[in-house]
Amino acid sequence: MKYSIAALLTVVASVTAQSCPSCPTIIPLYRGENDQITDHFYTASATELSTSAGYLFEGAAAGIFPTQVGASVPLFRLFNSALGDHFYTTNTTERNAAVADGYVLEDSPGFVYTSQICASVPLYRLFLVDGTDHFYTTSASERARALTGDFPYTDQGIAAYVPVSGVIEGTTLC
Ligand SMILES: *[C@@H]1O[C@H](CO)[C@@H](O)[C@H](O)[C@H]1NC(C)=O
Repeated sequence: MKYSIAALLTVVASVTAQSCPSCPTIIPLYRGENDQITDHFYTASATELSTSAGYLFEGAAAGIFPTQVGASVPLFRLFNSALGDHFYTTNTTERNAAVADGYVLEDSPGFVYTSQICASVPLYRLFLVDGTDHFYTTSASERARALTGDFPYTDQGIAAYVPVSGVIEGTTLC
């Protein structure tokens, strides 16, 4: 049987399109900051953040999928109460190492991509040794400020790719 190039391209295009979910539900991933324990806390629950003592609400830091869609994977959430540090990773090896180091695995806020597909954007990861703070942002300018501030964070690359940078609740995305 023979296939034309055009027919093959049509098949490739439809497979590529199918790997990106069409108009998936995206919810805000909120960010709070606690100056007393030097911690950034990310949750999809505005109620959880507003009832967490000591955290200042900083709005939506990113969008996240509430259910697994396409090639998305869980963003694991861990917390170390002795260090006062919330830590997020998609990497199960890193997650397990953190648990061995005293972090407790908490409820995942949702699902993200591990590569830049389906119009996703990078969620940058930074770390401050002094105070033990994992910090995540989709903003390149905020990242640049954190790297060069009075208490500079170190660059830890990209934690994940998220469906949209800071989202405003109620906005129709598609
Ligand atoms: C996961 O983390 C481990 C330990 O840091 C690292 O060796 C590995 O390359 C990571 N895997 C991915 C897919 O990034």
